[in-house]
Amino acid sequence: MKVRVHATIANFGPGFDVFGVGVGKPYDELSFKESDEWMVRVKGYQVPENSNNIAIVSAKALAAMVGEETALEMKLTKGIRPKSGIGSSGASSLAGALAMAKVLGVEDDEMILRAAMEGERVASGSVHGDNVIPAYYGDFTIIESYEPLKIWRIPVNFEVVVVLPAIEIPTSEARKILPSKIPRKDAIRNLALAASLILALKENDLQTVGRLLDDRIALPYRKQLMQWYETVREAALEAGAYGFSVSGSGPAVFAIGEDVAQIGKVIAETFSGMDIKADVYVTKVGRGAIWF
Ligand code: HSE
Repeated sequence: MKVRVHATIANFGPGFDVFGVGVGKPYDELSFKESDEWMVRVKGYQVPENSNNIAIVSAKALAAMVGEETALEMKLTKGIRPKSGIGSSGASSLAGALAMAKVLGVEDDEMILRAAMEGERVASGSVHGDNVIPAYYGDFTIIESYEPLKIWRIPVNFEVVVVLPAIEIPTSEARKILPSKIPRKDAIRNLALAASLILALKENDLQTVGRLLDDRIALPYRKQLMQWYETVREAALEAGAYGFSVSGSGPAVFAIGEDVAQIGKVIAETFSGMDIKADVYVTKVGRGAIWF
């Protein structure tokens, strides 16, 4: 059996730890079968081939939830670059949980997602579901609450360009620098942006969605890890982007607009002008996990 889990854009502008959306490229694939011992082989981007592998962590978490001790032999083809900001650990974590769910016949969405979030917790030191949840459903997802787990889903269908500069920013580092309190004016601005963005999405008004891609909770603090941010953003907007923001905790960025391929080219050239290589993915949003 094999499952494909796609990259995700978490936060999506003002929705820190709340909004996320699945994209079509890149993705991880996990083939698996029941086994006497845990084993994982990795192709593609390198991640641990031992019990620290996030797919093993989440698969074990799911087995523990149902009181089983089943082990899996897994082959992980890692197409999502780790520490790039597009839900790499979330995708592998969800793939592990889905694999174990398939073997044990578990169909409970919440249980699968909680096991996947356990993998995320181990990877990033915090429980956030805005990668694993959109990776599971594909849609634009809004996490209303974790306890109980309540999720809203908006079907979406538009193109984005996601650009990964050759820089690593571990999510744990990008979270450590965030203050625990934010000024009231920033909270109000984020509320206005987030509420308006959801309505614009429902109305399929991409230009307005783009205009609302801003954030006052995490981005102002994270810019210190991404000194290039404003330069790249200006170039993207000049190239016709309706909006531009960081994907998850960065350094990946994304833009929406009419000609996203051209916008992606300009973003990559801007990085290149700063001696930073970048991978460009022109892709549709709205991709969930797929079984083969
Ligand atoms: N919401 C998380 C963060 C996503 O911004 O830290 C991490 O991929």
